[in-house]
Amino acid sequence: MDTYSTRSFWLFGLLFSVSAAVLMSSVRLTTGSPIGVPNLQECQLATDTSVVGPLTTIQLNCCLPIPSGSVVEFSFDKYKSDTKRIRMPAQNVSADYIAKYRRAYELMRSLPQDDPRSLATQANIHCSFCNGAYKQAGNDSVLLQVHFSWVFLPWHRWYLYFHERILASLLGDPTFSLVFWNWDDQRDGGNVMPAMYLPNDSSLYDAKRNQANLPPTLVKLVPTITGNDSEIINQNLNAMYQDVVTNDNAELFMGGAYVTGTDLSNSTVLSAPLGGSIENGIHNAMHFWTGDPTQPLIQDMGTFTTASRDPIFYAHHSNVDRLWDKWRYGLPGGPRADHSEDDFLNTEFYFYDENASLVKVNVRDALDSSKLGYSYPDVAADELWINYSPSPVTSGSAVQAALASGVPVVGPYPQNGTISLGSGLTAIVAAPGNQSKSSDEREVLVIQRLTVTRDIFVAVLVFVNLPSAHSSTVTSSAEYVGTYNIIAAPGKTLTANVKMEIGDNLQRIGIQNETEVVLTLAVKGTQPITIDGLLIHYE
Ligand SMILES: *[C@@H]1O[C@H](CO)[C@@H](O)[C@H](O)[C@H]1NC(C)=O
Ligand SMILES: *[C@@H]1O[C@H](CO)[C@@H](O)[C@H](O)[C@H]1NC(C)=O
Ligand SMILES: *[C@@H]1O[C@H](CO)[C@@H](O)[C@H](O)[C@H]1NC(C)=O
Ligand SMILES: *[C@@H]1O[C@H](CO)[C@@H](O)[C@H](O)[C@H]1NC(C)=O
Ligand SMILES: *[C@@H]1O[C@H](CO)[C@@H](O)[C@H](O)[C@H]1NC(C)=O
Ligand SMILES: *[C@@H]1O[C@H](CO)[C@@H](O)[C@H](O)[C@H]1NC(C)=O
Ligand SMILES: *[C@@H]1O[C@H](CO)[C@@H](O)[C@H](O)[C@H]1NC(C)=O
Ligand SMILES: *[C@@H]1O[C@H](CO)[C@@H](O)[C@H](O)[C@H]1NC(C)=O
Ligand SMILES: *[C@@H]1O[C@H](CO)[C@@H](O)[C@H](O)[C@H]1NC(C)=O
Repeated sequence: MDTYSTRSFWLFGLLFSVSAAVLMSSVRLTTGSPIGVPNLQECQLATDTSVVGPLTTIQLNCCLPIPSGSVVEFSFDKYKSDTKRIRMPAQNVSADYIAKYRRAYELMRSLPQDDPRSLATQANIHCSFCNGAYKQAGNDSVLLQVHFSWVFLPWHRWYLYFHERILASLLGDPTFSLVFWNWDDQRDGGNVMPAMYLPNDSSLYDAKRNQANLPPTLVKLVPTITGNDSEIINQNLNAMYQDVVTNDNAELFMGGAYVTGTDLSNSTVLSAPLGGSIENGIHNAMHFWTGDPTQPLIQDMGTFTTASRDPIFYAHHSNVDRLWDKWRYGLPGGPRADHSEDDFLNTEFYFYDENASLVKVNVRDALDSSKLGYSYPDVAADELWINYSPSPVTSGSAVQAALASGVPVVGPYPQNGTISLGSGLTAIVAAPGNQSKSSDEREVLVIQRLTVTRDIFVAVLVFVNLPSAHSSTVTSSAEYVGTYNIIAAPGKTLTANVKMEIGDNLQRIGIQNETEVVLTLAVKGTQPITIDGLLIHYE
C-alpha cells in the first residue's frame, strides 16, 4: 500500500490540529510562505475510504487535464463582465429560468470527460484538490488541501465564479447566473431540497441523495436534531446564529492559517490550524444531510471526491458564498474583517475558464464579490437568524450544584493525562469572569487536543450551564454553543484544538461575571474521544 492510500479526507473531518506551542497563546502561526499553484504534471491517485461496511480504501483518478496553451494570469480587465450577474434563491426562479439552467447543465454534461469545462472535470477539480492528487508547491512532502483553513471560502468562490462563466458561455448567454440554495431561510421556502433539482429526467438531478430528505423534510443544520417543524426551525436558526453571528472574527468564522508546509492532510501532524465555524458547522451539516446514507461514501454530497458531481453542490456553495458576504458586510455591528495577512492574500489557485484555458488566480482578487461581477439580492428571511435571540433554559450559575454532585474541574492542557469523553463529559472550567477585554478580543472556548479515531461519524455538541445536556438535547437555547462534526475515515486519527465563541452564551444566561462555568460535551455516536484540556479565555 503506498503512502497516499492512507490519506483520506471527509467533509465532516477536521483534519488539522494545532501545535502544542501555540496551544496556550493566541499567537497565530502565520510564518511561512503563501500556498502557490501546484505542478499539474505531478498527479497521483486521490484516495477516499468507505464509511459503511468493511474498511475499504478507494483510489480515484481525479487528475486534471493540462491545456496546451499558456497559463492565463487573472486580471479584472481580462475577465470584466458587461452584465451584472444576480444570483437568486433556487426556490424563487421562474420556469423559463429553470429550463435555461437545465440546458446549461445538459451542455456541460455532454462535453467529453477530458474537456476542462465538462461536469466530470469540474467535479475532479474538487476531488483533486481535496483528496490528495497534488503536492504543495514548495514542499513535496505535503499534499495540497483546500478545506479546513482560511482558503476554504476564497477557493470555493473562485470555483463557482469559473463554473458560472463556463455555463454562461455554453449557453451563449452572458446574463446566466447561478442560483443559491437558501437553506438558512426558515420562512420563505428555502429550507428544503430545491424543487428545480428534483425531477429525475433533468440534468440537475442526481440519484445519490438522501431519499428520506426529499421535500417536505426540513433541512437540519445540526445533524440528526429532532422535533416538530417549529422545533427544527428554531434549532436551525440557532445554528445560524451561533455559527455566523457570534463567531465574528476571521479565524473563528473563516478558519486558521494555511501556508506552505502546513499539513492538513495528515491528522497526526500537530501543526495545522482550525477550520472555521461556517465550514465545520452549517456547511458540513448540509453536505451530510444531502448525501445518500446508503452509499458507502455517502455520495455524492457526503464526501469530497464526489460532492460536486451533484449540480446541487454549486447551489449549496453559492449560499455559503453569500453567507460570507453577509457575515462580512451585512450584520449588525458594522463590517467585519477578513484575514489580511499577506500569506492569505497571496495564496494562488488554478482554475479553468470558459475557453478551457488554465487561469491562475489569487485570494486577494476574490475578496470583493462585486468586482467579480455578481451579487446576491437581499434575503428578507436572513433577519430571522440575525435576530434570533436564544433564550436560556437555566438561570443562575450551575457551578455550586455541579460541585456538590461531584462534577470534576478540568483545566487547560497539560492535565495529568488525557480525559475520555465517553458518551459525554460535564466539567467545571475556569472562565475570565469580569476581567476586562479589548474590543477586538473574543471569549473563546478551546477544547484542547480533541483526539478521535474516525471509524464512524461522530459529533460533539457543546453546551454551557446545562449539566443535564446529552446528545439529543434540543439545541435552540442560549446554552447551546455549537457542534464539532467529525466525518468517518476509518483508521485515521485526528487531533484538533476546537474553538468556539462562548461569550454571547454566558451573557445571555447572565453568568458572564462568573470565574467558573459548567461545560458539557455531548457525544453523538459511539467512537471513543479524548481531550487534553479545556480552556476559556480571551483571544
Ligand atoms: C422569494 O420568494 C418569496 C416568496 O414569494 C419572497 O417572499 C421573497 O422575497 C423572494 N426572495 C427574493 C430574493 O426575491
Ligand atoms: C422518475 O420520476 C417519476 C415521476 O416522479 C417516477 O414515476 C419514476 O419512477 C422515476 N424514475 C426513476 C428511474 O427513478
Ligand atoms: C412543537 O413542539 C413544541 C414543544 O414541544 C410545542 O410547544 C408546539 O406546540 C409544537 N408545535 C406543533 C405545531 O406541534
Ligand atoms: C515540509 O513540511 C513539513 C511539514 O510541515 C516539514 O516538516 C518539512 O520540513 C517541510 N519541508 C520543507 C522542504 O520545507
Ligand atoms: C503522518 O505524520 C506522521 C508523523 O509525522 C508520519 O509518521 C506519517 O508517515 C504521516 N502519514 C502520512 C500518510 O503522510
Ligand atoms: C474566450 O474566447 C473568446 C473567443 O476567442 C474571446 O472573445 C474571449 O475574450 C475569451 N475570454 C477570455 C476570458 O479570455
Ligand atoms: C498531577 O499529578 C501530580 C502527581 O500525582 C500531582 O501532584 C498534581 O497535583 C496533578 N496535577 C493535576 C493538575 O491534577
Ligand atoms: C457583571 O459585572 C459588571 C461589572 O463588571 C456589572 O455591571 C454587571 O451588572 C454584572 N452582571 C451580572 C449578571 O452580574
Ligand atoms: C467581578 O466578579 C466577581 C465575582 O465573579 C465579583 O465578586 C466582583 O464584584 C465583580 N467585579 C465587578 C467590578 O463587577
